[in-house]
This record gives sequence, C-alpha cells and structure tokens, in this order.
Amino acid sequence: MKLRNKSVLVTGGGGFIGSHLVEHLLKLGNDVHIVDDFSNSNANWVPSDAKLTMGDLTNCEIIEQVVGPEIDIVIHLAARKDPNDDDPDGQFVENTTMTRLLLKECQIENVNEFVFASSSTIYGEAPRPTPENYAPLEPISVYGASKLGEEGLVSSYAHSHGINSYIFRFANIVGPRLRGAVIPDFIEKVRSDPKSLTILGDGRQEKSYMHITDCVEAMCHVINSQTSVPVSTFNLGTKTTTSVDQIANIVCNTLDESPDYQYTGGDRGWKGDVPKMRLSTEKLTSTGWEPKYESDMAVRLAVKELATELSKGNYSDSLK
Ligand SMILES: NC(=O)c1ccc[n+]([C@@H]2O[C@H](COP(=O)([O-])OP(=O)(O)OC[C@H]3O[C@@H](n4cnc5c(N)ncnc54)[C@H](O)[C@@H]3O)[C@@H](O)[C@H]2O)c1
Repeated sequence: MKLRNKSVLVTGGGGFIGSHLVEHLLKLGNDVHIVDDFSNSNANWVPSDAKLTMGDLTNCEIIEQVVGPEIDIVIHLAARKDPNDDDPDGQFVENTTMTRLLLKECQIENVNEFVFASSSTIYGEAPRPTPENYAPLEPISVYGASKLGEEGLVSSYAHSHGINSYIFRFANIVGPRLRGAVIPDFIEKVRSDPKSLTILGDGRQEKSYMHITDCVEAMCHVINSQTSVPVSTFNLGTKTTTSVDQIANIVCNTLDESPDYQYTGGDRGWKGDVPKMRLSTEKLTSTGWEPKYESDMAVRLAVKELATELSKGNYSDSLK
C-alpha cells in the first residue's frame, strides 16, 4: 500500500497523534476523512482540507456512515487512553467496541487495509529491550488489556476475512498538542508553583520517548514499505530512555526555574504504571528507517514546543 492519492479514514483524527498524522497524509496527496467525538481533542486541530464527521464510534450508525467501499485504508487511533482511568470497565468496553464494530464494517464494505494504534502497555513489566515476539503478554492495566484484546480482534479479522493489518505498538509519543502526560503536567505545575514540584513515584521511572514527527514518519514508512501479510506488528519507539527526574530537570532548565522536588514515593507513578519501558526497535530499523530524535532529544524538543504552546494559552483552551 502506498499512502499517496488514497482515500484514508482516520479515527481519532482530531487527537494528538491523529491531527499530526492527518496533516502528513494531506501533504502526501491523500484524501483524508476524520471521525472523532472530540471527547479528548478540539475540532480546531482538524485541517480545513480534511473531511470531518463528528460522532461516537461506539455507535453503529456513525460507523456505517464513515466506512464505505470508497475507503482504501482505515487508520484507527480513537481510544480512551488514560492508563489511570477511574472507569476501567467503561474504558475496556468503549475501546474494544469501537475496534470490533469498525472491523465488522470493513469486512462488509470490502475495506481491506487496517491500521491499529496499540501500545507498549500490552507487554506489562517485560525484560528490555522488548521485541515484538516477546511472550507471555501480561498487561498490568485495563488500558493495556483493552489494547491486547483489540490486537486479537485485528488479527482474527486479518486471518479470517483478508483484512491486511498493521499494528503499531507505540512507546511514549511527545510533541505539540500532547496533554494528560508528564511533560505538559510538569510545565503547568512549575508555572503555577515555581518553588516546589511534586513528582509521582521516586523519579527513577525510565521510559522511551519518541517525537511525534518521527512517529508519523515511521507509520507511513512501514505502511508504504511492507508487503501485505495478514498482520504486520511493529514497535515504534527509540533505542534510549529518559527518566522522570531527567524530564523534570529539562522542564525546569527550559523554564529557568529551580523548584524543590517532592516525591510521592514508590517505584511507579500510579497503580498499573509500568515503571521501566524500552521497546526493541530492531524490526523497525531493519526496514531502513531510523528516528531523527533519540529519547532525550525528543523530550527536549517537546518541552520547548509545549512550553511555547502552553504560554499562548492554546493548551487550556484546547479541550472542552
Ligand atoms: N500518545 C501516546 O504516547 C500513545 C502511546 C501508546 C498508544 N497510543 C494510542 O494511540 C492512539 C492515539 O493516541 P493520542 O495520544 O493521539 O490520543 P488522543 O486522546 O489525543 O486521541 C484519541 C482521539 O480519539 C477520540 N475518541 C475517543 N473516544 C472516541 C469515541 N468513542 N468516538 C470517537 N472518537 C473518540 C478523542 O476525542 C481523541 O481525539 C490511541 O489509540 C492511543 O491509545 C498513544
């Protein structure tokens, strides 16, 4: 599949990753249709040359409206993604329902290419770097469980109904429009209280961060270069990691503040948080693609971008 002059449906196309991906797909000359309920995003992030349907993807009528034979590929990014969701049952049902209904409609309408946004959380607390064929898969959050269940649905439709599928297991993706994550959280906290910064856990949690520009390029590179097999699964991340303490230091240096760090304690930020994560990127780099930014560089760049974005008030204004 070459992502050029194609008709692409992006679910969750109004969100952080989706809005950047949509801009990239439009630049490549694709016809892009977005469906989003804007429960965690803002319609202002949608480029004017993309077609937009506003609606909830757990509703069959919305799915029937947006999935049709004219669509060449569905890129499914919509999800409730908070790993610390206070309604885990609702999160599981919503995420798996959207994916199940979309796949069913793709089968009915003969849409034979499907991309699914999965997550490093499906691996649970696995040895690092974690390759795509690592087992046993034991997620420790309901969010991770929903992603693993959805991967199973994607695989079953790929094998039983010929829907060629790409599964991307993202590390932590960072960049403009990111919210509900450690970088924007620290920026807002330091700005509101430059004397003291509360850090969840012991600050030694260490994860791999990938810049959004690399994430979007990697997705398109893999889709463009893979010959169709029923399911192509790729980790998308960087070879290196950044600790939470390092992120706090980068934020404080960028904002030119030196607060005292207060730790809530324990080895993780919250129940279900995987404290250390580094995905193997060997399979990705063996396709001839390398990220431009390693983890620390991606964090530095995202801190600068978000500090500027947030100071303009775009951040707080961005969500309903
Ligand atoms: N950002 C990351 O670091 C990261 C890491 C791992 C996996 N992912 C996955 O990548 C995808 C995109 O993540 P993101 O960071 O852009 O999240 P996001 O919250 O910014 O985007 C998701 C979008 O889906 C929409 N949405 C949610 N429920 C919906 C529903 N029922 N109907 C219609 N739209 C709905 C939201 O309004 C939002 O615009 C998600 O599936 C997420 O689980 C992201």
